[in-house]
Amino acid sequence: MKESLEALSTKEYLDNNKDRFLQELMDLLRIPSVSADPAFKGDVLRAAEWMKEKFEAAGADNVEVCETAGYPVIYADKIIDPSLPTVLVYGHYDVQPSDPDELWDSPAFEPVIKNDRIYARGSSDDKGQMYMHVKAFEAMLATDSLPCNIKFCIEGEEEVGSDNLETFIRANKERLAADMVLISDTSMLSNENPSITVGLKGLSYVEVEVTGPNRDLHSGTYGGGVANPINTLCQMIASLKDDKNRITIPGFYDKVVELTQAERAEMAKAPFSEEHFAKELDVEEVAGEDGFTTLERLGIRPTLDVNGIWGGYTGEGSKTVLPSKAYAKISMRLVPNQDYREITELFTNHFKSIAPKSVKVEVRPHHGGMPAVTPTDSVAFQAATAAFEEAWGKKPIPTRDGGSIPIVSLFEDVLGLQALLMGFGLDQDAIHSPNESYGLFNYYKGIETISLFYKHYASMKK
Ligand code: BES
Ligand code: MN
Ligand code: MN
Repeated sequence: MKESLEALSTKEYLDNNKDRFLQELMDLLRIPSVSADPAFKGDVLRAAEWMKEKFEAAGADNVEVCETAGYPVIYADKIIDPSLPTVLVYGHYDVQPSDPDELWDSPAFEPVIKNDRIYARGSSDDKGQMYMHVKAFEAMLATDSLPCNIKFCIEGEEEVGSDNLETFIRANKERLAADMVLISDTSMLSNENPSITVGLKGLSYVEVEVTGPNRDLHSGTYGGGVANPINTLCQMIASLKDDKNRITIPGFYDKVVELTQAERAEMAKAPFSEEHFAKELDVEEVAGEDGFTTLERLGIRPTLDVNGIWGGYTGEGSKTVLPSKAYAKISMRLVPNQDYREITELFTNHFKSIAPKSVKVEVRPHHGGMPAVTPTDSVAFQAATAAFEEAWGKKPIPTRDGGSIPIVSLFEDVLGLQALLMGFGLDQDAIHSPNESYGLFNYYKGIETISLFYKHYASMKK
């Protein structure tokens, strides 16, 4: 038995265990580990315990569900030889809320397979992508082909800003010491054009509250004579961008690193169809900052978006009311070298300064994070390129993404480690949206690519 196992290649092992790998992911997807909503606390904790069991079953050592001030971090490792390189794998087991639930074709936490895709909240972001690493690890270990040391750090608060992870990594510097961080929590251009993310945006997220009169009023008796905070809020928000779609907050662009013409020309080589992009989203035309292409707007320019806005009467039918309060949640996506703390302060000062005397304004910062750019001249990048060439028959293209993973810059600052963002998601996965899904092709191909990455990394790193 032992002999036949050793004779098995990692690829054969993956093929032989395909169905089980999928069933396990579906089990994980059935746990609604929504970190944003306290109602799911028990489920988030259950997902952490589930991960622990799977790490143990895969053959990891030192598996621990590590307490934090919030949801636990799962640590696991396999040190085969301290003189070999060590890869730290990061991922997250928490997911976004599933709402609006009525827009899902099947319940968010009852995974189903349709058209070779697995539909469920977290299937792509990030349970599917994170679990590929556990399975690649299992396959390498079982076939005696793990070529370097592995450490896992899987958190449960990524979708709410990773508030307690910084404390955890600061307190566990030794335990997390490694040569690089490997993360699959981003997307690729397409399955025909695999890519590696080399840039992520930073984030400043704030909530604003605008108060007009001290109570809700009759909109006929008072309307026209008292500022309506919803109208005022809308005017204030509209003024945050000019007619060129540039953000009007003074100082907002001061630290933005502009790309050179050569860098922009390089970026423009990525196979991207603006027409296809617009069509996928059912919009007549794209929109954004003047003077930049869609890829540039998404990847290298800072942005400001209202994520939610509410106030007054939103129930059935009509109620004639001039509300006392209006609210909005606003995100600003940042690029190197913008600091989210500074931007939050600039926003707060500006937003208060543009408020008319007829209302009071409060700005409450939520979470934030720094942008990150990862090198393309590293051994990790070269190893990933070789892995993609072997598994996909194509050289991966470096791209910059509009999403944020705030912990990436902290790994660099606290542990001195560069990350490699080897994501296997696609835009069609609809992460954070109803009907999130993940291609089975990507799940299996990803596991294979990850295994190949280790092979190349270990041999190149020598
Ligand atoms: N996996 C995403 C980030 C991502 C998605 C990066 C697609 C690149 C491409 C991550 O789970 C996420 O959603 N991050 C949040 C930030 C966080 C502070 C809430 C985000 O980008 O909104
Ligand atoms: Mn994610
Ligand atoms: Mn996410």
